[in-house]
Amino acid sequence: MKSKFKLAVLVSGRGSNLGVLIRNIHRGILKAEITVVISDNFMANAMNIALENGIPAVAVERSGFTKKREFEGKILNILKGYSPDLIVLAGFMQILSSDFIREYKQKIINIHPSLLPSFRGLDAQGQALDYGVKVTGATVHFVDDGVDSGPIILQGSVPVKQEDTRESLAERILKKEHEILTKAIDLIRRNKVQIEGRKIFIKK
Ligand code: GRF
Repeated sequence: MKSKFKLAVLVSGRGSNLGVLIRNIHRGILKAEITVVISDNFMANAMNIALENGIPAVAVERSGFTKKREFEGKILNILKGYSPDLIVLAGFMQILSSDFIREYKQKIINIHPSLLPSFRGLDAQGQALDYGVKVTGATVHFVDDGVDSGPIILQGSVPVKQEDTRESLAERILKKEHEILTKAIDLIRRNKVQIEGRKIFIKK
C-alpha cells in the first residue's frame, strides 16, 4: 500500500489553519497525515488542537536557545524523526534561515494573509486596510531565503469593504486561507506543482 503523504505543521498561535487541515483530512478531502506539530510557543492554542486530535505536538521555544542555529537544529532534529513530505508553516512566527530551508528544499510552504508581493511581513491585513486597497487576499507560497517572497503556488482574493475593520477583514481573509491551504497541499501531494525559477506551473 502506498504510504500517506506526511505533513509536519509549524505553528505559533491560534491554529485555525491547522484545525481546518485536520478536519479536511478526517473528511477525506485531503489525503494526508499530520505526523507532528511543532510550536515555538508552548502556550499556543494550536498545541491543544494537535493534542486533542492525537497528533504529537512539541514546543520548541526560541528563548530556550542562545543561538538561532541551535533553535533550528532542535526543530530539524525533531523533523528528521518524522521524515515529512512537506512542512507547512501555518502561522509560524519565526523566519527560517537559509541553512534550514536548504535541508528541505522546495518542501516548505507558508500561508500569508495578503496577495503577495503586496503587504509582506507582519499584520498584512492592517497594512492592506491602511493602504486603501479594494482587493486583498491570501497566498500559499514556497518558502525561500526572503520574507514572504518564495514562488507563489495559489492565491485567493477577497474584497475590502468600506466598513471593514482590521478584524472583519482578517476574518474574511482567513476563510480564504483555509480554502487555498488545503488545495495547495493537495496539488503538491498529487505532484501537480512544477517549479521553474520563481514561477509555478500547475500541471493538468
Ligand atoms: C494566519 O493569518 C496566517 O496567514 C498567518 O498567521 C495566521 C495564523 O492563523 N501567517 P492560525 O493560527 O492558523 O489561526
